[in-house]
Amino acid sequence: MLNEEAAGKAPRTSLHGHWSSRMAFILAVTGSAVGLGNIWKFPYIAGENGGGAFVLVYLLCVFLIGLPVMMSEILIGRRGRRNPVATMALLGEEEGHSRRWRWVGALGIIAGILILSYYSVIAGWTLAYVQKSLFGVFTGTTAAQVDTIFKNFTGNWVALAFTHTLFIGCTTLVVARGLERGLEQAVKFMVPSLLLLLLALLGYAITSGSFAQGVSFLMTPDFSALTWDGVLAAMGQAFFTLSLGMGAVMAYGAYLPKETSIAGASVAVVIADTIIAILAALIIFPLVFANNLDPAEGEGLVFVTLPLAFGQMPGGVVFASLFFVLLAFAAWTSALGVMEAAVAFLVERFYRTRAQAATMTGGLIWLIGLGTVLSFNVLAEFKFLNGTIYDNVDYLTSKIILPLSGLLITVFAAWVMCRNSTADELGGAGSSYRLWHFLARFVAPAAIIVIFLQAVGALG
Ligand code: PHE
Repeated sequence: MLNEEAAGKAPRTSLHGHWSSRMAFILAVTGSAVGLGNIWKFPYIAGENGGGAFVLVYLLCVFLIGLPVMMSEILIGRRGRRNPVATMALLGEEEGHSRRWRWVGALGIIAGILILSYYSVIAGWTLAYVQKSLFGVFTGTTAAQVDTIFKNFTGNWVALAFTHTLFIGCTTLVVARGLERGLEQAVKFMVPSLLLLLLALLGYAITSGSFAQGVSFLMTPDFSALTWDGVLAAMGQAFFTLSLGMGAVMAYGAYLPKETSIAGASVAVVIADTIIAILAALIIFPLVFANNLDPAEGEGLVFVTLPLAFGQMPGGVVFASLFFVLLAFAAWTSALGVMEAAVAFLVERFYRTRAQAATMTGGLIWLIGLGTVLSFNVLAEFKFLNGTIYDNVDYLTSKIILPLSGLLITVFAAWVMCRNSTADELGGAGSSYRLWHFLARFVAPAAIIVIFLQAVGALG
């Protein structure tokens, strides 16, 4: 309700500085969104859930749920200008409700740390694949050989632990260096280069893969192949791929200058993220069918299909190395945002230096990540609830915490915050505001609740 000018206060600023331009913000959020989620996870869960119908539901979730949640997160972040926990507490109070909303911020940070714990392990795989590509390991290999290379690698827990350590170490380093010097520079060239390389690969998939079969797998919805659990997976993926519900976008929003259009920036990010995911799938599935691989192969899908293709194409060593370098970069820029949320919290709450806060967060993530490292080898047979430790961390975050966190964020933005506050952030009460308000107030919360209850079987 409080309008800063009306209350005669100086506008709030963030302790950590602001983005140098609107483009820097868009790039940073896009960098956070585009990552393993688009290129590694989307194809593999689309494959596991039968393709077309899953893709359709995913797109609906991205635009009807993901977009309004993203706008809500940015507007909350910018209004509070602090870390997610402090922002939620501050706004909860300011809007005449309760400081307890801080738990929503905390939930996001917890989700982020859990996700990063396995994300870092998979990102480590891409690092190892850079090395393998450079050494020409994939040149001329058959499908069975690539599969063996993957299984031998993931079966070796020391190798996984090493690359996991390397990845989380690099991430910690950049976050410790701080916003301007670290984050902005890292994201500026990564997204455009990745896009270019994907387009080149698409060219290859069109000419050398079973392109028509791949496209039909992705674009022909067969609803009998889709379960409610698959719908929940699609919704979880929408949150995951846009880095929503884990404090990252809220933390970035806190550094957004007042004049920037939140709706415009969000739409740009969501579209860029969607294009990259679809591109990745359009590259992977033609190769899957051309090589008689199994679309439901699981976590290894990208790590088997792409090296196989690289191994057969001219200049494959260069393309493969470049591709895995870029993928590692994409993962890295995603990880930065998530870690930023936790670090901003520790710095503001406990007055630690950024370096200390980043080291503590990185150390914790590393430790939890060892559970995922072992899920592919030593503890591969240790299964409970939904499978291995990795399966459970993934399930808990993507299918439970992120939707819950997204639900609470939209409820807060569209029901608890008064219209003056939200309209102030979203640039007036025009038609785009009304559309956001409708989606965030009714459509997104209702959809999240229905999908969740259906998937756990509560609605029969
Ligand atoms: N949005 C990121 C992606 O699609 C996912 C992510 C989530 C990354 C959480 C880091 C942490 O890859």
